[in-house]
Amino acid sequence: MPRARYVFPPGFLWGTATAAHQVEGQNTNNTWYAWEQEGRILHGHQAGRACDWWGGRWREDFDRAAETGQNAHRLSVEWSRIQPTPDRWDEDALEHYRQMARGLQTRGLKPVVTLHHFTDPLWLAEMGGWENPDAVTHFVAFVGKVVEALKPYVEIWCTINEPNVYTALGYVEGIFPPGKQDLPTALAVAEHLAQGHAAAYEAIHRLQPQAQVGIVVYYRPMRPARPWFPPDVLLAWMEHRWFNHYFALAAAFGRKMTPWGTRRDRKLGPALDFFGLNYYTSDRVAFRRQPPAYTERRFPPDAPLSENQDIAHVPQGLFQGIRWARRLGVPILVTENGVEDGADTLRPRYLSEHIHQIWRALNFNWPVLGYLHWTLVDNFEWDRGWTRRFGLWALDRETQSRTQRGSAALYAAICQANALDTDTVAQYAPDALPALLPGVPLGGMIK
Ligand code: FCB
Repeated sequence: MPRARYVFPPGFLWGTATAAHQVEGQNTNNTWYAWEQEGRILHGHQAGRACDWWGGRWREDFDRAAETGQNAHRLSVEWSRIQPTPDRWDEDALEHYRQMARGLQTRGLKPVVTLHHFTDPLWLAEMGGWENPDAVTHFVAFVGKVVEALKPYVEIWCTINEPNVYTALGYVEGIFPPGKQDLPTALAVAEHLAQGHAAAYEAIHRLQPQAQVGIVVYYRPMRPARPWFPPDVLLAWMEHRWFNHYFALAAAFGRKMTPWGTRRDRKLGPALDFFGLNYYTSDRVAFRRQPPAYTERRFPPDAPLSENQDIAHVPQGLFQGIRWARRLGVPILVTENGVEDGADTLRPRYLSEHIHQIWRALNFNWPVLGYLHWTLVDNFEWDRGWTRRFGLWALDRETQSRTQRGSAALYAAICQANALDTDTVAQYAPDALPALLPGVPLGGMIK
């Protein structure tokens, strides 16, 4: 059998990513809790106890990560726990996070901590959330408190997770809180988030000069559905710019995008030590005649689709994302990548081929620091509730028991070897071999 071994650089980070509200449980003081109470989640689902990390089950999940060869983990801290009201800091909550960060460290998992991952405290929302420019000052105070508490254990910080998704879904599409559909407000929110990132960057470096601070952007390649049709080309270009560029240009270069081009804005940056790249899937953009939405997004034809058709398997998109992000001039950390797949039929292939694309990018000497798979254990998937299963481990919410999926063993083999080996892939994901060994006759190896 033909063989190949795709080796990664020493010190490459291998891990998984999670977010507080999705795994902790018992978060009752933030915007997503309120959204759940209003019945805004698919099937009326609620996060409830989630994966019971607040009850202590992070210990067993961190054990799983460490025992399967991972050397990093990205988690987020919940603002509304640490600052339950504007004038109160909860030292017990800080101590809880200190224990978790220490728990990662003692297991040999490098902590990567996200300071804002979609949720806001209810008191902030009552002040207008990020529509209100004061959110920046409040955020910086919170960040200072967290960094002071966790700096003995944490050096890699993600300020804000996917501000582009937060703005698009909360203020344009209206399916995330606060459920608005209002373009001028969306632009104001985006600007305040970009300012929040830059101000947090400064604050973290004041407290911890050696810190590595990045922003995390959901990157989605958008190509024209019909490259010969100018309206598709124009729309794809516009969507790509607004969705992918806005926060990257702000953080990397302190450039603010406007409908007429970009202009320098010192309040936005430069403020970037690494770029957090989240990649899941790619789109084709088409013009359509019916108002109000003149665009339509489609998946590339022939791409295999995930269980609920949320994600098309387009691994080259991750390579494109890295190629695009390297222009920002800082190292890149793949902060999320994964697929919803309860039956674990697509995930082994998805994992193998996406990791292979990172190896390809590394061969161009593009600086990729690590790969954090979304996610360790099935968790509460925002507006989709409990219906999307992204975990390497399946979760039974009633009993809180975890069951290892095949992909966990595949990922363990990759992490332990610091390499992607076609023998491993043949065992767990034979359908990925044609992409990994292009042009090699594989005979009867693939069913
Ligand atoms: C990303 C989010 C993360 C998770 C995955 C599936 O957009 O950052 O919290 O929901 O999607």
